[in-house]
Amino acid sequence: MEKVAIYPGSFDPLTYGHIDIVERALEIFDKVILAIAVNAEKRPLFSVRERLEMAKAIFKDTPNVIVDSFKGLLVDYVAKTNAKALLRGLRATSDFEYEFHMASMNRSLNPHLDTLFMMTSKDYFFVSSRTIKEVARLGGAVEGLVPDLVAQQLKKKFKIPLGKKNQIGWEV
Ligand code: PNS
Repeated sequence: MEKVAIYPGSFDPLTYGHIDIVERALEIFDKVILAIAVNAEKRPLFSVRERLEMAKAIFKDTPNVIVDSFKGLLVDYVAKTNAKALLRGLRATSDFEYEFHMASMNRSLNPHLDTLFMMTSKDYFFVSSRTIKEVARLGGAVEGLVPDLVAQQLKKKFKIPLGKKNQIGWEV
């Protein structure tokens, strides 16, 4: 039977840290469903549609990655799939408490559902969607930390002209 994992998150926006987790998970699972949350409590920078479009474009040549979105409880979304596990990246001890609560809550809602954690690669342990947005908003370079498509979309959102030099003279 095909081994499927669901990688849920806000992905606002998708970073190389996320992509690294997906690529490594594909060494273990036959299929990874990247499930973008329509999270009513958060005010995302990118709409669900924008996040879906970007993720679909980024994984267009990786057929065993399915990009989808979900509303409501994650466990209810999981029940509609044949996934056996949730997948999350773990960067530092600061991530642990949040992840532990979330995994425990999901397991309480569905005792058959386990969350597997993958340690973020050393190149991306400092990368988060939140800091990427902050750096991009202030005109800093995020290339190398997010796919080019995401870097371009961030510039559009923050109305930073493409090819503009940042405060220290680097082209962004
Ligand atoms: O990338 P994020 O924002 O850390 O992802 C969090 C996410 C979307 C995985 C989490 O908030 C979630 O699963 N939301 C759906 C609602 C839900 O099921 N909540 C109960 C689990 S705590």
